[in-house]
Amino acid sequence: MIDRTIRSSIERLKDARNAVILAHNYQPPEVQEIADIVGDSLELSRRAASTAAETIVFCGVRFMAETAAILSPDRAVLLPDEYAGCPMAEMITAEALRTLRREHPRAMVVCYVNSTAEVKAESDICCTSANAVQVVRSLADVAEIIFVPDRHLGDHVSRQVGRELILWPGYCPTHARIRKADIDRARARYGEVCVMVHPECQRDVRDAADEVLSTGQMCRYARQSSLRRFVVGTEPGLLHRLALENPRKHFYPANPQATCPNMKRTSLEKILWSLQDMAPRIAAPRQVGDRARKALDAMLAVTESCSPT
Ligand code: 13P
Ligand code: SF4
Repeated sequence: MIDRTIRSSIERLKDARNAVILAHNYQPPEVQEIADIVGDSLELSRRAASTAAETIVFCGVRFMAETAAILSPDRAVLLPDEYAGCPMAEMITAEALRTLRREHPRAMVVCYVNSTAEVKAESDICCTSANAVQVVRSLADVAEIIFVPDRHLGDHVSRQVGRELILWPGYCPTHARIRKADIDRARARYGEVCVMVHPECQRDVRDAADEVLSTGQMCRYARQSSLRRFVVGTEPGLLHRLALENPRKHFYPANPQATCPNMKRTSLEKILWSLQDMAPRIAAPRQVGDRARKALDAMLAVTESCSPT
C-alpha cells in the first residue's frame, strides 16, 4: 500500500519534471520495475546520450550517473543515493594514470567506464564490459595499450584479442567473491547447465564458465538460447530480469552472497526524494567533462554498429 502511494507519487513527479528513470541490471526488483529502461552500462550510456528528457534519474552507482552527466551536460542527472559509489572506480587516480602514461609514452589508454570522470579525462577511449574486446581490436595499429582499472576485464580482453596489455591492478570486490569452487559446486548440483560469468570475474572462474558476457549480453544470450538452466556468475540482481524475461527457464546465482552493496542503496523512497528535491545532482566539472566526453564519444563511435540487447 505504501509502495503503491510512493510509486504513484514518483510517476506524477516524473511527468512534472520531464524525467526518465534509468536503472542498472543490478538494482533491486522494485527499482527495476519503476524504471523506464533497465540495462547494462553500455545500453544506459547510449540512452543517456540520446534522451529527450530534461531530467535523468540514474539508479545505479556514481560513475554511471557521472557518465550520463558527461554525455548529456544540459540535463539534470540525479543519483538517488549520493553514497552509491563503486570501489573499483576508486582504485586508480588521474595522477597515477598520468605517471603510467609517462612510463609508456607510446601507449594509448583504454579506460573501463567503471572509473571517475578525472580518469576518463586522462584516457583516449572508454569501454564497457560489452564492447571492451571491440574497442581494443579497433586499436590494432597502436604500439602499446594501457588498460585501466580492471585487471580481470583487461586479462579477458587481452586473451580474446591475442595481444599483451599493460594492466592496472584494480578489481571488483563483488565479483571477487565468486570462486571457481562455486562454479564446480553449481555444475555438480544442477547437472546440465550453461554457466555464464561476467568478465570482472577472476581468470579461473572465467575458464570454468561456458560464456563470459556483460550483463546485457547475458540477457540476450538467455533469451536466444534453447537451453533451460543457467548458472549466473555476476551480481544476483540480474536474476530478477532474467526470470521475468524467461518464465520457462531457470536461473541460479553462482554465489547468492556476491551482492554489490552500493547497487542496493537505491530505494523507491530515495527516487521520490530525489525528484522532489532535484538532488543529489551529479555533474562533472566542465573542463574535465569535455575531455572525458571525447573518450566516451570515441567508444560510442567504435561500437555504433553493436546490436542492441
Ligand atoms: P555491465 O556493464 O556488464 O552491466 O557491468 C557493470 C558493472 O558494474 C559490473 O560490475
Ligand atoms: Fe563496482 Fe563491482 Fe558494484 Fe559493479 S558490481 S558497481 S564493478 S563494485
